[in-house]
Amino acid sequence: MKYTKYLLAIAALLFVTVSAQAQTKKDGKSIFEASKCNMCHSIASQNITTKGKAPDLSNVGADKKADWIAKFVTKQEKLDGKQHGMMFKGTPEELKTLSTWLGTMKKAAK
Ligand code: HEC
Repeated sequence: MKYTKYLLAIAALLFVTVSAQAQTKKDGKSIFEASKCNMCHSIASQNITTKGKAPDLSNVGADKKADWIAKFVTKQEKLDGKQHGMMFKGTPEELKTLSTWLGTMKKAAK
């Protein structure tokens, strides 16, 4: 039983590491803000406001799919023949989280 306390210490350490990782996992909104998308875009429905002039994205999911958004912000897809002004620089995982989140942006029908 000499090693029990070491085992407990290791278990505690593992627990702390795992929960710290879970906390740093970013959601769509924090990636949107960290990527400075909010310099140009507001999303009024998410309380994201800006002085920028780009379209509000509160309803972007109504006619755009997450896949398309992911390609558009990495300049693999065009809108009206034009590429997006900004290239997304995050990881593929962040791109997926961000585009999936934006794909859910739909205004409730009035
Ligand atoms: C420098 C300003 C600027 C930044 C920063 C910016 N955008 Fe844009 N975005 C625009 C403009 C302007 C448009 C309108 C279409 C166009 O002219 O390209 C647009 C269009 C879009 C569209 C299509 C909207 C629609 O109604 O179809 C999406 C989606 C989008 N941006 C997502 C993003 C995301 C995600 C980020 C952050 C990674 C971002 N944008 C950062 C300026 C910006």
